[in-house]
Amino acid sequence: MSEHLWSGRFSGAPDADIFGFQSSFTFDRRLFEDDVKGSLAWADALATAGVLTDDEFQAVSAALQDILDTGRRDPAFVSGPDEDVHAFVERQLVDRVGEAGKRLHTGRSRNDQVSLDLRLYVRRKARVVQRQLLDLISALADQAASADTTLMPAYTHLRRAQPILIAHFFLAHTEALRRDHARFGHVRDEADAMPLGSSAIAGSSYSIDTDALAARLGFSRVVANSLDATADRDFIAGFLHACALTMVHLSRIAEDVIVFSSEEFGFFELADAVTTGSSLMPQKKNPDPLELVRGKSGRAIGRLTGWLVTMKGLPSGYNKDLQEDKEALFDVEDTLLTSTAAVTTVVRTLVVLGAHAESAASGLLLATEVADYLVLRGMAFRDAHALVGGMVRELLASGRDFESLSMAEWRTFSALFEDDVAVRITARAAVDARRTPQSTNPVAVAEALSRVTAWLEAVKAENHDG
Ligand code: ARG
Repeated sequence: MSEHLWSGRFSGAPDADIFGFQSSFTFDRRLFEDDVKGSLAWADALATAGVLTDDEFQAVSAALQDILDTGRRDPAFVSGPDEDVHAFVERQLVDRVGEAGKRLHTGRSRNDQVSLDLRLYVRRKARVVQRQLLDLISALADQAASADTTLMPAYTHLRRAQPILIAHFFLAHTEALRRDHARFGHVRDEADAMPLGSSAIAGSSYSIDTDALAARLGFSRVVANSLDATADRDFIAGFLHACALTMVHLSRIAEDVIVFSSEEFGFFELADAVTTGSSLMPQKKNPDPLELVRGKSGRAIGRLTGWLVTMKGLPSGYNKDLQEDKEALFDVEDTLLTSTAAVTTVVRTLVVLGAHAESAASGLLLATEVADYLVLRGMAFRDAHALVGGMVRELLASGRDFESLSMAEWRTFSALFEDDVAVRITARAAVDARRTPQSTNPVAVAEALSRVTAWLEAVKAENHDG
């Protein structure tokens, strides 16, 4: 292609390899829809400013609409030898309406144009991610509901710590994901500033009604400074961060489910549909999708880190380095959406092996209950802790646990133990004894579940309205 958006100043054509190297059309074609919508709004602003006559405005708008419709119908249409998506749309426009199409770039630069496209794109995609998060949160809440009051051990240092409700475990993960949902809302807010009128760097010299443009494009405000706005990609960093942190949360769900569905734990059974076998070992049922999610979290974190490094050394104003934002953005978006979908399917199809999980929730992990029992009868917690530690040592040596002790044996450890130890020192009594609202007490867990369910309904209703 001999003619580029900027060819006038040059006597020779660019080196073909160099042109290919710096072109972005193969990936920024994803911004097609946002680019055309931005141009439709810009045409309107130019008509109001008197740069386009009414006839020109009508012709340009109709052509842009046709370009948009064609691209939506046939994604393969959005391709060609163009340098980037902006050049592609402009070429299509000029092919259709000639002279009037050449006027569309008046007062605009690809620097504020690409910023607009990205802001529109990030705002759209943050919503898509939020919708997917709701699906996963619902799946976890459904598992919490069907687990009812079944128990499992909770772990610290991956050692049995205290009994909890399995529902408490599922709801724990919903909390992290609800924070992610909110974080994508903040990302949307950050991207919610309309950059057109910044032009290349110093602002536009045409009388562009930026407020009207912002309103038309669904932004609540206009950027404050053209020099900042043309090189600001903080909202991309924000999106990448939100994605990376969500991937961290998905990775931790994956890790928990991998561990708890292993032969050693056996609390969960993964559906056949979400596992793969071994080419050699016939007994294997591997949690590959979960392992991939855990692995891909590294990619998302790497993209965020890479993008921060790209930004950090840039002088003010647009620099071509900024083009690197796109592959990071698109890759992380794809990674997160496919990973969230995979984890949602795994969670939805997960079978809880309640009896097994519950049987693992008793034994020496009731030690804290024994100490609390003594505290209730007046012993200082530190003394109780030491006494029970000694009991644990003896029980371990004889391969026994608290529940097997006779009353006489209890009383060899302390005269404070009375007949009620038999009913107080059980996993069920342990969860019932928890009192704080964030605890695993079954009443607290039921309330937590209804809060999550109510939140899901409220957010879904809000999305339908907005
Ligand atoms: N493809 C470019 C990017 O993604 C568009 C902006 C080009 N601006 C420029 N001055 N070369 O950043």
